[in-house]
Amino acid sequence: MIDFANLASEFGTPLYVYDATEVRRRIHLARAVFEGLDAHIFFAVKANTNPALLSLIKMEGVGADVVGPGELEAAVRAQIRDLLLNGNGKTPAIAGAFVDAGGSYVSMDTPDELSLWHDFPVKRLLRVNPNIVAGGHKHIATGGNVHKFGVAPERIPEAIGYLDGLHVHIGSQILDPEPFREAYTAGVNLAQSYKLKLLDIGGGWGIRYGHDERDLDLDEFRERVVLPVLRPFDGTLLVELGRWIIASAGSLLLQVISVKKSGKTFVVVDAGMNALIRPALYDAWHDVEPIRPRGPRCLCDVVGPVCETGDVLAHDRELALPDPGDILRIANTGAYGFSMASNYNGTMRPAEVLVDGANTTLIRRRETLDDFFATCSTQFRTSHATQRNDSDSHSSGEPHESN
Ligand SMILES: Cc1ncc(COP(=O)(O)O)c(C=O)c1O
Repeated sequence: MIDFANLASEFGTPLYVYDATEVRRRIHLARAVFEGLDAHIFFAVKANTNPALLSLIKMEGVGADVVGPGELEAAVRAQIRDLLLNGNGKTPAIAGAFVDAGGSYVSMDTPDELSLWHDFPVKRLLRVNPNIVAGGHKHIATGGNVHKFGVAPERIPEAIGYLDGLHVHIGSQILDPEPFREAYTAGVNLAQSYKLKLLDIGGGWGIRYGHDERDLDLDEFRERVVLPVLRPFDGTLLVELGRWIIASAGSLLLQVISVKKSGKTFVVVDAGMNALIRPALYDAWHDVEPIRPRGPRCLCDVVGPVCETGDVLAHDRELALPDPGDILRIANTGAYGFSMASNYNGTMRPAEVLVDGANTTLIRRRETLDDFFATCSTQFRTSHATQRNDSDSHSSGEPHESN
């Protein structure tokens, strides 16, 4: 059992806490699904970019699926060589960095991307859009033909001759095996008809966030999808899992600043959508409880300190009413938590710790104001005659630097 109270007092809040044992457990479960198949698992780094977590994941033999340069660098720092590049706006800079890092697999979003990869020794896959809509929210459904990702299968011939495989990723937080069955059936048929030996089946496995949900049932997934649809594929499968591997391993610890009664009861905590944007962005549910529940149960909104009405972590939630100073734990926040956090309202992003049995490591210290301003300058060149400079109150009208 992780001692959350102790961690909050030692490292302060807001604090992300990750459980290494849970990460390993989830990887083993995922691997068992593909037992007997030639399948290669990559962690979708967009879910969590912390290099220490990536090192842990690497120790379990999992590669990294990256999009931006920071994700690539995180994987490189974790010494992951087994790299896959995704994304629909790749630049020559990311292509070069990926090749320099020894990356092997590239999912091209369109045949037009071939020009980026002509001279590079990578395995090229083309992302096809099977026109299947699935996923926990409209913002994370990616497989419809009105979504920006991939191309219709009719465009495969434009790239054939340069292609090693196809890629199908239909969305995230999918709890029902059926859309996977449909999408992979399309993917396998297309790959076979074009004699391609690589099929990237993306990620998207859903997890249980709320009491009325349950994880994607992996036994059912294996029975209904993996064995009948994927096992007959004569080639190698690539799998890109983010949420499944890391979400349940993460908790966000927040301190109660105040409890306010107006039209509703508001529990105000020390970070909200700035640390965890999922509830505001996707209407996502996360279980919330005080780590030491003691007050009477009460219906309340748990809200952050950010100047947005939408800065609500939990709506109309019955919980043991906390007092200021108490610590709340927001569950299942390992995926798309820190990686989507922001500095909005000039707030500093949380620290992160990794707990592995009896060992706890601070894997990202809390941001400071110096970090916040590290990329800024207060000086600028101006030709505006009325620009006033604190160190020079006699404005000359000449370009000058202002503090
Ligand atoms: C191309 C691609 N692969 C994999 C993933 C990981 O998805 P998930 O975290 O749902 O497994 C995503 C995220 O949506 C993605 O866009």
